[in-house]
Amino acid sequence: MEFEAFVHRAAVLVCDDTIGADPSLQSALRQAGLSALTAVAEPAQVRPALREQRYDLIVLELDAAPSHGLALLAQLQQERGDTAAPPVLVIVPAEAVALRHQALELGAVDFLQRPFDTEAAMVRIRNALHLREADLRQRHLDDELEARVEARTAELTQATDAIAHRLARVCEKGDMHAEQHIRRIGKLARILAQAAGLSPEACFLIEHAAPLHDVGKLGIADNILLKPGQLSAREFDHVKRHAQLGRDLLDAPESALVRMAASIAAHHHERWDGTGYPSGLQGEAIPVEGRITAICDVFDALTSTRPYKDPWSIQNAVDYLVAQAGHSFDPALVACFIAHLAEAEAVLSDYPDTL
Ligand SMILES: [Fe+2]
Ligand SMILES: [Fe+2]
Repeated sequence: MEFEAFVHRAAVLVCDDTIGADPSLQSALRQAGLSALTAVAEPAQVRPALREQRYDLIVLELDAAPSHGLALLAQLQQERGDTAAPPVLVIVPAEAVALRHQALELGAVDFLQRPFDTEAAMVRIRNALHLREADLRQRHLDDELEARVEARTAELTQATDAIAHRLARVCEKGDMHAEQHIRRIGKLARILAQAAGLSPEACFLIEHAAPLHDVGKLGIADNILLKPGQLSAREFDHVKRHAQLGRDLLDAPESALVRMAASIAAHHHERWDGTGYPSGLQGEAIPVEGRITAICDVFDALTSTRPYKDPWSIQNAVDYLVAQAGHSFDPALVACFIAHLAEAEAVLSDYPDTL
């Protein structure tokens, strides 16, 4: 019944130099249950017609100018794949065996012979429509499955994101400025990762892991972390431990996201010239996610308000990055960042400091 309803609604494009006026073809199509028939005279008119509306079956006559019809079949076969192209039935003279073979090789699902055996033609037309219906149903299922997977992935990403942000907030120990900083740093890091040509997966991981760069501050005493004014050398050495502590805390190799966060925590204070901490890595020995986050972290800290400082202008912050290219920062990444400065500025205005 379902199939009958499908056949009743099915749109058929007949390409025939009699413009569909052949009474025996007409009656085979009608007997097959089809009512929505459109006719064109030339194979060249078929593809434009397919662009205009969806068809469920093409009936292509190959008696008059077979080369045009075969060229059309070849084109349709090439375009098949992601588009839900309708099946093609060809009409061939009974004696044209080679032509029939060629047409089948080029993707025609079946053939009808002229003169028509109406009964056989009707069965073959319905078989082709069965194929079409199954193809559409499969595509519908595939789309549904894809949508479900997408929805689940989005849900998982949201959950991960929410957990990462809450954890990052805890780590900032009530510093109200940190909340927007951790939002911005993820966005900035994604922009720079994309600008540097990293894979979409790496960009995704960096965006969602960068907010956890200072997670190791959980292990640093509050009286040092929240101390107003200058830290002593000893205190500063203590604060520096947060990089290694972050890596240790995030030691969960089974998750790509947590692995990325561990690497960022461990490397965001390394410096291009090897004078950073905790490992004193140099140049490209510092993982790219660490080099990216280092630039974004400093740029964001400079351009935002902190209790002890006014925000720097964008230009001053850029000048600082340029001055530190080759010292603190990877010079190629600094150049990428500056080339995408407008996007970085948009992040600053989308997530302004709340105080
Ligand atoms: Fe840090
Ligand atoms: Fe930071």
